[in-house]
Amino acid sequence: MQMTNMSEFHGHIKRVLITEEEIAEAVAKTGEIISLEYKDKPLILVSILKGAYIFLADLSRAVTIPHEIGFMAAKSYFEGTESTGKVDITMDLAQDVSKYHVLIVEDIIDTGRTLKEVMKYLESKNPLSLKVLTLLDKPDRRLVDLESDYSLFTIPDHFVIGYGLDYAEYYRNLPCIAEFEEDS
Ligand code: IMP
Ligand code: MG
Repeated sequence: MQMTNMSEFHGHIKRVLITEEEIAEAVAKTGEIISLEYKDKPLILVSILKGAYIFLADLSRAVTIPHEIGFMAAKSYFEGTESTGKVDITMDLAQDVSKYHVLIVEDIIDTGRTLKEVMKYLESKNPLSLKVLTLLDKPDRRLVDLESDYSLFTIPDHFVIGYGLDYAEYYRNLPCIAEFEEDS
């Protein structure tokens, strides 16, 4: 498949960190692992809007066992490009999670503050199990005690855009993961 012409995406792309092809390969492999791990178990893939919407769509198709998907929305409050730790759950799941093995599908774990709060909330609903799968992990930035169970790529401390991740709501449609270039 041809790499998208980057000049169509104006402005803020410093360099490509992870290509479309690298993402596709990692997603396919992860789909196989999840399909084995959760075989014959009631599985729900839960995504926290909006950053993981593209990842979830691709991962769900790479998982070959029956499963449901669900969406939650959590509003993180930001100061610049960093979350403050204040999180509101603004949309809950329709499913009763006590009947499912819940796998949270995240776009990125940065400080970990958003996910920590969402996990606390889901734990209180007594799922059969609760694990976290993240596309990207930025361990250098972690401010709370939290580790993902599955992580596709570990990246350095750069703000990234693309494949669902935004800067001020733009660049989610970029097919690769790129480093964001601040205005100079
Ligand atoms: P955390 O609470 O700091 O772990 O981050 C919460 C959310 O911030 C993530 O789910 C992303 O939506 C967003 N975020 C964190 N780092 C980045 C980044 O490098 N690019 C785009 N969004 C990010
Ligand atoms: Mg975001």
